[in-house]
Amino acid sequence: MKRYQDIVGDGGSRILDQVLEQRTRISDGLAGVRHLVAVGSGKGGVGKSTLTQHLAGALRARGLRIAILDADFNGPSQARMAGVERAVFVPGSQKVALPRTRDGIAVFSMGSVIPESQALDFESLAHGESHTWRATREFALLGEILGSFEWGALDLLMIDLPPGADRTVQYADFLGPRTSFVLVTIPSEVARGVVARSVAALAKGPNRLLGYVENMSGYYCRDCNAVKPLFAASEPAALGIPCLGTVPFDPELARHCDLGIPFETLRESAVGRALAGIAEQLLEGLSTTSAAAHDSRELRRDEESPR
Ligand SMILES: Nc1ncnc2c1ncn2[C@@H]1O[C@H](COP(=O)(O)OP(=O)(O)OP(=O)(O)O)[C@@H](O)[C@H]1O
Ligand SMILES: [Mg+2]
Repeated sequence: MKRYQDIVGDGGSRILDQVLEQRTRISDGLAGVRHLVAVGSGKGGVGKSTLTQHLAGALRARGLRIAILDADFNGPSQARMAGVERAVFVPGSQKVALPRTRDGIAVFSMGSVIPESQALDFESLAHGESHTWRATREFALLGEILGSFEWGALDLLMIDLPPGADRTVQYADFLGPRTSFVLVTIPSEVARGVVARSVAALAKGPNRLLGYVENMSGYYCRDCNAVKPLFAASEPAALGIPCLGTVPFDPELARHCDLGIPFETLRESAVGRALAGIAEQLLEGLSTTSAAAHDSRELRRDEESPR
């Protein structure tokens, strides 16, 4: 197969130069980011976005500097979950500033850019109102977002991935070996089987698999203050990677997501404690696994980051 370097003359479009320029812009833009953590699954609807948002909240509550990139451009959830749907993007001299949640998490989500009443379509810029953003253009857009927004100095950039085991691997390829993965499953064999495929596919590459979270692991009954079984399986499904923890189904968590209420008010609940425990495990994984040759320093507690 020919590589870009082998193509003689590209009609003046400078493809190779453009790709290299974008790569440089991305690495410059992310130079101040200590860890990139992608939250994926393969399976849809298992709670990737919910856990991204509220794990970010649990990490923020520990004083870490956190941003979220909602990489599900066609089905963005973070704008609503973070309460930044009506964000105004302010171009700075170099990069565009990001909106922040009430607890100080910077968020990019397509849901802040395009209203829910409009379908998304990559053709929109050229053809009126339609918007279906696909494959290669999706990654070109991801590159633009990583390179154009003000990510600044961060302990963690959390990336909320779209569903699909194939997409999970494509994102791993695009984001490169710096990005570690947390996978989300639910206690059902159907979900476990799909997530197992993502584990198998990612294990072939260089990205670290920090572990998985079993979401909707039982139902939290607020009246009786106890977690009750929801599905038949009672033990977290084994996936051959560490289990970072389990999160019960709690309608209050769904309400927080729908209304864009930050993690803070969940903190003392069963679900809040579960999320805090998973945040702890995640940090432990990041600080102990050696594959991140770029940086294994202990995460810095943040006194000066904006609230
Ligand atoms: N533990 C939970 N308790 C209560 N509701 C939950 C929980 N986890 C997820 N939900 C709710 O389930 C729905 C789906 O969750 P979410 O959007 O996070 O899934 P997803 O995996 O990101 O989906 P997609 O594959 O479409 O990106 C949301 O309405 C969310 O609020
Ligand atoms: Mg999602």
